Amino acid sequence: MSNPSLLILAGDGIGPEVMEEVKKIITWYGDKRDLKFDVSEDLVGGCAYDKHGTPLHDDTMTKAQEVDAVLLGAVGGPQYDSLDFSVKPERGLLRLRKEMDLFANLRPAQCFDALADFSSLKKDVVAGLDIMIVRELTSGIYFGEPRGIFEEGNERVGINTQRYTESEIDRVARAAFELAMKRNKKLCSMEKANVMESGILWREVVTEVGKDYPEVALSHMYADAGAMQLCRWPKQFDVIVTDNLFGDLLSDAAAMLTGSLGMLPSASLGAPMENGRPKALYEPVHGSAPDIAGQGKANPIACILSFAMALRYSFDLGAEAERLEAAIETVLADGARTADLLGPEGGTPISTSEMGDAIVAALEKSL
Ligand code: IPM
Ligand code: MG
Repeated sequence: MSNPSLLILAGDGIGPEVMEEVKKIITWYGDKRDLKFDVSEDLVGGCAYDKHGTPLHDDTMTKAQEVDAVLLGAVGGPQYDSLDFSVKPERGLLRLRKEMDLFANLRPAQCFDALADFSSLKKDVVAGLDIMIVRELTSGIYFGEPRGIFEEGNERVGINTQRYTESEIDRVARAAFELAMKRNKKLCSMEKANVMESGILWREVVTEVGKDYPEVALSHMYADAGAMQLCRWPKQFDVIVTDNLFGDLLSDAAAMLTGSLGMLPSASLGAPMENGRPKALYEPVHGSAPDIAGQGKANPIACILSFAMALRYSFDLGAEAERLEAAIETVLADGARTADLLGPEGGTPISTSEMGDAIVAALEKSL
């Protein structure tokens, strides 16, 4: 049997730096756990635009459709701000999500013990926090038609459309219920059924799907109240399912609860392929951080944890994912800190590659 295949799209800004550290981890698994991957690399985002005049070349799109999993770093940078909307770096990422039909975006927000002091919230509110946001990723206002900027009378009007079909809601709800079954059997669905018809439909369909999962305690919340509750007492939640735009906002808020955006991974999953594995793309929640790019300051943990999610969700290697997560916890407990993880007291940060090396060393000790 051939090795599972990975396509690495490191992208822009700190993407390539943090991805270097992921490659060390991939090499370690190949050498020490006999888990060999066929790795190929390509461009996405601004770097793809620089080379090809498009943020995602068709050949890259084809490759992404063929591999077992895509690992993505980050896209974007100020030098691309003035580009036409259609070729902005973000369009490359959105095209991947849409054409691979990655409808379920899993964004865990986990607070590592060693970092509980870092949250802007009180320690007891966040210590031990472990929630999972499931964000719908291929529909809603990000993709709905009509969209655009139009002339209307003597002024312009900007239009985007929130649109959800029943089947789009059904499939992401099922993904969320399945996850809830593997976790604490608690699911909260967030929309704004009080003002949006798409929210009313969302609530109805999620409730209907819930009948297939009688063991899961389902609740509903308006997304604004959900944002407030996430800040007030996040531990009341386990799995949250929500639409594309609310999920974008709520996952950033949830991320900050944990102390650092530099720590959070994500998985974007689609339907199963012929080999049974889901179409999948893994990426850190953080962006390309152009202000610190190329300085060895970036925290590679979110990207490395994204690879852990790949081990778990694409390759059914949950125990190896746990090994990697435990190695990261050990390294943090030992006091290793990249610059983003230094609290108000300061201290001496280690570099991106030193963090990667420390994690490899902890993996080595786990054998
Ligand atoms: C995210 C990002 C993206 C989004 C951008 C970069 C297009 O904010 O993944 O959360 O809005 O989905
Ligand atoms: Mg976002």
